[in-house]
Amino acid sequence: MKNKRIQEKVQKSVLIVDDLISNVKLIAKYLSDYKLYFALDGLTALTVAEERLPDVILLDIMMPGIDGYELCRRLKLNPLTNTIPVIFVSAKSHEDDEELGLQVGAIDFISKPISGPILRARLANHLELKDYRDNLEDLLKEKDNELSSTYEQLLHAEKLSAVGKLTASIAHEFASPLLGMEQILKSFRLEEQDKDKEELFGVCVSECQRLRDLIREMQNFGRPTTSCFEPVDLNAIITDVTKFCTKNCTKRNILLEISLKQIPLIRGVPDQMKQVLFNLLTNGADAVGDSGGLISISTAVLRDQIILIVKDSGCGIAEENIDDVFAPFFSTKGKEKGTGLGLSICYGIMSKHKGQIQVESDLGQGSTFTLRFPIIKDFAL
Ligand SMILES: Nc1ncnc2c1ncn2[C@@H]1O[C@H](COP(=O)(O)OP(=O)(O)O)[C@@H](O)[C@H]1O
Ligand SMILES: [Mg+2]
Repeated sequence: MKNKRIQEKVQKSVLIVDDLISNVKLIAKYLSDYKLYFALDGLTALTVAEERLPDVILLDIMMPGIDGYELCRRLKLNPLTNTIPVIFVSAKSHEDDEELGLQVGAIDFISKPISGPILRARLANHLELKDYRDNLEDLLKEKDNELSSTYEQLLHAEKLSAVGKLTASIAHEFASPLLGMEQILKSFRLEEQDKDKEELFGVCVSECQRLRDLIREMQNFGRPTTSCFEPVDLNAIITDVTKFCTKNCTKRNILLEISLKQIPLIRGVPDQMKQVLFNLLTNGADAVGDSGGLISISTAVLRDQIILIVKDSGCGIAEENIDDVFAPFFSTKGKEKGTGLGLSICYGIMSKHKGQIQVESDLGQGSTFTLRFPIIKDFAL
C-alpha cells in the first residue's frame, strides 16, 4: 500500500455561461486550449454542469430567467456541483456586486471588459488551487481508509493474543485432571480374564501421554519469550518444530523434506528461532494449499555464514507484493486467516540475531525464504 500519487496532465474543462453569444465567443477565443462547454441561460447551465462536471464555471450575472447569483446558489446547493469553483465575469463592477457574488459562493470576480491574459492567469491560479484541494481530499480519504484498516488489523491481532492467553489457561486447567486420570489408569491391574483388553488399555495410556505433550506445547507457545541469547543448535530446533507440523502436513498432502548439514551453533534465543521457523512453515503450508505439494527445509554453511532455507512449491508471491511481505499487517489472506504479522516478526527476530531474511519467488511456482546467520568464532565474547 504505497502512496504513489500520479499527477496526470489532463486537459481542464471550463463551462462558460453568458446570454450574449458574442461574450461567449470572446472568452472562448482566450481559452482555446481548454475543453469548453457553453450555456446561454441558467437552466441549461445547471444541466451541463451536472452532466459534464467542468473544472471551473465562468458565470455572467445579468441573464434572463435565473440570474448569475441564483444560478451560483443552486450550483452550491447541489452535491454534484458544489465543489466546482465559480468565477463571476460581469460588467457589474460595483463593490456590492462583487460582495454578493462572493457571498453566494463564487471564488472570484472578473470585470468586463475582459483582459485575456488576466482571465487566463486567474483561471490557472484557481485550477491549481482546485487540484491541490482535490489531491488533499483524496489523500485524506486514503489515510482514513488506511487508519481504519490498521485499526481492524490491530483488533484482530489483539483477538489472537487473547485466544493465545485463553489457550494457555485452558491447557493449565486440563493438565492436572489429565495427569490424575493417567495415574488412575496406570494403577489398574487387569485380571487374567481381561488380558485381551491390554492393547486398548495401552492405547488409553499413550493417548493420555500424547495429550500431555500437546498441553505442554500449548503452554510453551503461550509463554513470553525469554530473550536470553545462548548457543543454539539450529538443526535441533528444526527437528523439534517439524515434529509438530508433520501431522498437519501429511493431512494436507504436503511432503516435508528435511536436509540438514553439519553446522556450527548460532548465538540465538531458542523459542524465537522456533517462532521464525513455525511462521515460515505455516506460510509455506498456506501457500501450498490443500491440493498438496512440497516444503523443503535445509541447512548448510556457505563461506562465513550459516544458511537455513525454507522452500515451498506453493502459489508464489506476485511481483507487486514482494517488497511488502515483510511489512507489518501486509497480508493477502483476508481477515479470517492472516494477521500480516508473521513475516514482520521473523524480520525483527532475524535483525536481533544479526542475521538476514530474504525471499525469492515465482508466481505459481513457489517461494524460497533464505535465512543467514553469522558464524560465531568465540561464544565467550
Ligand atoms: N511461502 C509463501 N508463499 C506465498 N506467499 C507468501 C509466503 N509467505 C508469505 N507470503 C505472503 O506474505 C504475506 C505476509 O505473510 P505474513 O507476514 O506471515 O502474514 P499472514 O500469513 O498473516 O498473511 C502473506 O499474506 C502472503 O501474501
Ligand atoms: Mg503468516
